[in-house]
Amino acid sequence: MKELRTQVAIVGAGPAGMLLGQLLDRDGIDCIVLERRSRDYVEKRVRAGVIEYGIANLLEWAGAGERMRSVGLVHHGVEIRFERRGYRIPLSELADGKPITVYGQQEVVKDLVALRLESGAPLLFDCEVTELSGLESETPSVLAMSSDGPIRVTCDYVAGCDGSFGVANRAMPASTKRYERNFPFSWLGILAEAKPVSEELIYARHENGFALYSLRSPTVSRLYLGVGTTETLEEWSDDRIWHELNTRLATEERPTVNEGPILERGITAMRSVVLDPMRHGSLFLAGDAAHIVPPTGAKGMNLALADVRELASAFVASFRHRDQSLLDTYSERCLERVWRAEEFSNYMTQMLHPAQDGFENGVQSARLRQAVTSREASSVLARNYVDLNSL
Ligand code: FAD
Ligand code: DHB
Repeated sequence: MKELRTQVAIVGAGPAGMLLGQLLDRDGIDCIVLERRSRDYVEKRVRAGVIEYGIANLLEWAGAGERMRSVGLVHHGVEIRFERRGYRIPLSELADGKPITVYGQQEVVKDLVALRLESGAPLLFDCEVTELSGLESETPSVLAMSSDGPIRVTCDYVAGCDGSFGVANRAMPASTKRYERNFPFSWLGILAEAKPVSEELIYARHENGFALYSLRSPTVSRLYLGVGTTETLEEWSDDRIWHELNTRLATEERPTVNEGPILERGITAMRSVVLDPMRHGSLFLAGDAAHIVPPTGAKGMNLALADVRELASAFVASFRHRDQSLLDTYSERCLERVWRAEEFSNYMTQMLHPAQDGFENGVQSARLRQAVTSREASSVLARNYVDLNSL
């Protein structure tokens, strides 16, 4: 067994784990990142794309903003479509001039991986953490299996940044409260080599279901369809996908989207999960390991990055100044923000996905009409969409 010693063992090299590593590294705190997948896999995993204003600033401040600032797309509005009409929500105008940045999650991870490898700080790929032990002691340890055999990392703290099905989540005691909601639909997401039809994102509610039009570059579109929870990719031919996207996104003025070869596709269930507290002894959860939001509000990655902003400062206070107060209040401070994101994601999800129940449908349609016609309602939506995690 290979034995290693560090101050913070970070499980998972997603956005949360990688940014935490970068922030600690910059503050001279030793940490090791352990990731079960390969570097190639994490750098190609297509997921989120919308970065909030304050989170984009955080990435820049952390030294990881260069490529995001040069190739990320800055958006000042989003469009919402229903009943074959489109309504633009002028995000920046309603949210103190702040824009969002559209930049793929895997690009954020790629930038952070490059920085870490460049600095020589330890980052172990193909290294699956199998057990966390001694979490109630001052010297917890992390057991992992790497391609070169087993490893034990002894540390002061463990950061569980390994997503919702990870080992950290499972190491939380039975007394941890777990709040959960499953939604009666999933999202089918595609990445397509197709010239975007709009410069801004389009969320659509149609009687056939939800649709979302997003983009990654002037030649690549990212699109989503709301589908049933039991549907599989086999049931969705390319023709059927494009037909549904065209049907659900159509307005009188813009009846079609641009089609092209589909580069990537996947189906994701929609659910909400919150664990309370986000800490057990020397284990601190961050990102999807602690909470899941349905993707309609584009909050998952932003929440994950905002958690580690808090966690990094708390570790620095503990190691530098022997001040445990930020670690002691970490969970409480995060959870207030997490519930705000759950509320917003729930609001966006319910409002944009047609319901089976006629009464619920009527209520949600009225809510949607209010969101696009009342300046007060649009302003709340805009502020939450653009910068919820830094409000
Ligand atoms: P993850 O990205 O899941 O990273 C966890 C890492 O831990 C992974 O690399 C995993 O391989 C590793 N790991 C797991 N178990 C182990 C183990 N035992 N040992 C070692 N490593 C392990 N969010 C937004 O903010 N905006 C959006 O627009 C958005 N759109 C989305 C669209 C889709 C289709 C999906 C699926 C998600 C979307 N999200 C969005 C959510 C976002 O992708 C997640 O919230 C985000 O990935 C959370 O980051 P994380 O670092 O907490 O977890
Ligand atoms: C994207 C994903 C989302 O979940 C969302 O709400 C908006 C955009 C995207 O992948 O671009």
